[in-house]
Amino acid sequence: MSDPAASPPVTVADRDAVRVITVNRPDKLNALNAATLDALDAAFAAAIADDAVRAIVLTGAGPKAFVAGADIAEMNTLTPVQGRDFALRGQRMMRRVERSPKPVVAMVNGFALGGGLELAMCCHLRIAADTARVGQPEINLGLIPGFGGTQRLLRLAGRAATLELCLLGTPIDAARARELGIVNRVVPAGELEAQTMAIAQQLAASAPLALRGTLDCVNHGGECGIEEGLEYEAAQFGLMFSTRDMREGTTAFLERRKPSFSGT
Ligand code: COA
Repeated sequence: MSDPAASPPVTVADRDAVRVITVNRPDKLNALNAATLDALDAAFAAAIADDAVRAIVLTGAGPKAFVAGADIAEMNTLTPVQGRDFALRGQRMMRRVERSPKPVVAMVNGFALGGGLELAMCCHLRIAADTARVGQPEINLGLIPGFGGTQRLLRLAGRAATLELCLLGTPIDAARARELGIVNRVVPAGELEAQTMAIAQQLAASAPLALRGTLDCVNHGGECGIEEGLEYEAAQFGLMFSTRDMREGTTAFLERRKPSFSGT
């Protein structure tokens, strides 16, 4: 049996201004138990609070899985009240990721099933290896998604895809996930890390307050009507004119040079 103190459920590493957060239970295909949900929550809170971090990459350890779901062994004995609490625990953590003011990229390196797809869907971009398989197979366990799957998949890919994945429970390959709009890009497995890091580095060099404004507008707009969303966007747009980065970005364009953004 592995010693939990020797192998934490989540690891973090920095590559310049990119924080890489890795779910680290490869012997259980990175299944999300309560300790892993809490460790992810803490890792995201720390990354969001750290001024040196400008973009975040989330992935799973080992060659097979991003995350193969909520931990079925842990769920097996839960009572209804504990089941609800477990769902809320996962939902709170995933909401933190979704509402992160810094962009979060899911590097989907293998199975993203159940809670794994739910975790990928709360990230802002999803880059998948061509070998990845994604799905909401909870129905095969007599369960339904509990970490936001029925809600985020509906908003991301629509009713037909959501009902197909959640009712049939059959995982789909990365190419089909791309067709349905569930992942942004599919890349050869051998290039996944390089291509994902290139995207993350691009985000890390971008204007942090404008990234934050964009994320705020898209999050808010997903939850309100068009008039309110447009008003919110106009207010955020106006706010950008208070930033040094807006002056720098527009001046750099006019001077035909590359901008250097400071996050102020
Ligand atoms: N929860 C807990 N443990 C899990 C898990 C999960 N969601 N998914 C995989 N594991 C464990 C397995 O029990 C096994 O542990 P063991 O070696 O101690 O027996 C280990 O991870 C490796 O998984 P295994 O099933 O042997 O790998 P595989 O390559 O044969 O199959 C999957 C891979 C992803 C198809 C299969 O593991 C699977 O169907 N997992 C569950 C997916 C799921 O239903 N997720 C939604 C949960 S709500």
